[in-house]
Amino acid sequence: MSAETHVVTDAILFARPDITDDDIEAVTRVLRSGWLTTGTEATSLEAELRDYLGAPHVVALSSCTAALEISLAHLRLPRGARVGVPAWTFISSALSAHHNGLQPVLLDVEPDTLNLSPAALQAALREGLDAVVAVHFGGVPVSGEIFRLCAEAGVPVVEDAAHALGATDCRGPIGGPNATAACFSFYATKNLTSGEGGALATNDHDLAEFAAAYRIHGMSSDSWARYRPAGGTHYDMREPGIKANLPDVLAALARSQLGRYDAMQARRRELLYRYREQLEAFGFQFVPKEPVAGSADHLAVVLLPQGIDRRAVVEGLKAQQIHPSVHFRPLHHFTWFAQNAAVGPTGLEVCDALADRALSLPLHVGLSDADVERVSDSLVALMRS
Ligand SMILES: Cc1ncc(COP(=O)(O)O)c(C=O)c1O
Repeated sequence: MSAETHVVTDAILFARPDITDDDIEAVTRVLRSGWLTTGTEATSLEAELRDYLGAPHVVALSSCTAALEISLAHLRLPRGARVGVPAWTFISSALSAHHNGLQPVLLDVEPDTLNLSPAALQAALREGLDAVVAVHFGGVPVSGEIFRLCAEAGVPVVEDAAHALGATDCRGPIGGPNATAACFSFYATKNLTSGEGGALATNDHDLAEFAAAYRIHGMSSDSWARYRPAGGTHYDMREPGIKANLPDVLAALARSQLGRYDAMQARRRELLYRYREQLEAFGFQFVPKEPVAGSADHLAVVLLPQGIDRRAVVEGLKAQQIHPSVHFRPLHHFTWFAQNAAVGPTGLEVCDALADRALSLPLHVGLSDADVERVSDSLVALMRS
């Protein structure tokens, strides 16, 4: 990797982790402690996330992808069982089904939120689904209809809450007391980051126990239990899991960030509203179309007018040291999914219509109001030219 990719720079980056002296101190403390992998920091992070979310159980993991894979594994579905996934998501929402031997069934989204469409889901449930991965895109909770439809059909829902730490819906906090399986990401671009990392929040004691073993290959006792001075050496392995524990070095960073998360979220929301103020006046449509009170405000997505060459816009912004991103390329536009995923009965019309129009503007708490104005002015000027 060239040094250029991670040096301090004046460019307006799409995302940039907010790292304070306290964060550095927290990580340094672990580095000096003699214990780097999963131990008391990870356990404390789990307890603090339980408090923050009101969740009965939280299991710290190496990624949201791992949380999704583990949640689906716990369902013990037969090989080839069908898992409904919105096509407008990150690859791993659907690959987590594939890696469990399950068949992803791609479903269309709603144009105003890019969240799973209840109509598309209802049709697919009629055709037959065995589970659903519901993605809270950009931190905007999916419609309550999704849970109602799945409950009615007796189909379990795994929530991909990678973008949604701090979001709330009609059930309360995402990942709160009512969540059977909510999967969070602490990846480098997320609202709260440990570089890489994730967590599973659940009200299902059995899932929590399963996840705690599955994240260490299915072993019945973790490194802390075995290697600390008072630990024992015996353990069993009852069924094969994966390697997906969160080391203490990373857990310490996540804990430090969680301590100021509400303040970070408030600033994020200010920036996002400033973007709306700047750009809606020029006719730009945001996703979600209207602000959503319970959103975690993860992304600042605009839909470029139809017919605009998004690649040219991205290049134009980059030439001005502004680095946008794209969330997401619909899954069926990737070669592997086109060849291997099933598609729900209502098709993927909305995904196809909007695939080349969504643009994610830089959004992170290190941005100033002036940065938001610079991005907005540049985008408007590019549209005019
Ligand atoms: C919607 C969504 N789901 C899942 C993931 C995977 O998260 P992780 O990198 O923590 O596995 C991401 C990450 O970008 C995401 O955006």
